Amino acid sequence: MDKLTYAGNLRNLESIADKIKFVKGDICDRELVLSLVKDIDTIVHFAAESHNDRVVMDPEACVRTNVLGTFTLLDAARLNGMKRFHHVSTDEVFGHLPLGEGSFNENTPYAPRSPYPASKAASDHLVRAYHITYGLPITISNCSNNYGPYHFPEKIIPLFICNLKEGKKVPVYGDGLYVRDWIHVEDHCSGIEAILEKGRIGETYCLGGKDSEISNLVLTKKLLALMGRDESFIEHVKDRPGHDRRYSIDYSKAKKEFGWEPKIGIDEGLKMTVDWYAANQAWVDEIRSGAYQDYYKKQYGN
Ligand code: TYD
Repeated sequence: MDKLTYAGNLRNLESIADKIKFVKGDICDRELVLSLVKDIDTIVHFAAESHNDRVVMDPEACVRTNVLGTFTLLDAARLNGMKRFHHVSTDEVFGHLPLGEGSFNENTPYAPRSPYPASKAASDHLVRAYHITYGLPITISNCSNNYGPYHFPEKIIPLFICNLKEGKKVPVYGDGLYVRDWIHVEDHCSGIEAILEKGRIGETYCLGGKDSEISNLVLTKKLLALMGRDESFIEHVKDRPGHDRRYSIDYSKAKKEFGWEPKIGIDEGLKMTVDWYAANQAWVDEIRSGAYQDYYKKQYGN
């Protein structure tokens, strides 16, 4: 189920179209959600408005989808009985860390600093409350920054790859010394799968990348090298308000309990990602032109 807002692209599911039943819809639509949960035993809830820059400009859609949408899914799960409700969340609920010091783990107090992580924090609390109050069999994962194929080119890695390919400069916010703990999307999905199979009900697991904590400037320089561009392509621009300095994940709980570890290091993952964007220019072009939004109509006729 996906609302197919600006970042949703049905083309991303083309290779598995014969294995899934796709439903276009809003997770806040209680009637639709109630009609769908009747046929399923597990909800893996990925749906969120997650791009900080957009949310800062317009927080309403984010609060609605992330808080009310999660509530609607939880309530439908409660009314229909569910084998599992897994909630996909973010490390940003924990606030931010100083440079070079400490990591988030499952016991870190919540301290979100902007509307997107505040809305995700609210949704995490609702998920735990449904477990305690109604006995809903939930698990939660709080993951660090994702990257990889099919990433909408508004996030730093795909945006910079696309800009550099087109010979455009890349906008680095502020001093560029903000640090993120990058996890390849395949590692994130293997973590969610491991939690579904082996995680304990009611528990939260932090998922992070393999030795992939780097500053935005270091990340940018790696991308410049991979794309054969020099540092004149860097443009320092105005900083993001409420910009979190550093995220870092300690994933030792998932490792200790069921042996999950990320496998793809940042250099390998960035190379794979640059190669994917090079091989999938048509996918990028459809997004740049807006044509990707017609794809659903072509498949489903409305
Ligand atoms: P982003 O991909 O938006 O993820 P998040 O806000 O969830 O961390 O941004 C990652 C980092 O890159 C963040 O520190 C902001 C920075 N950034 C830039 O410097 N320039 C850009 O154009 C973008 C989109 C992000």
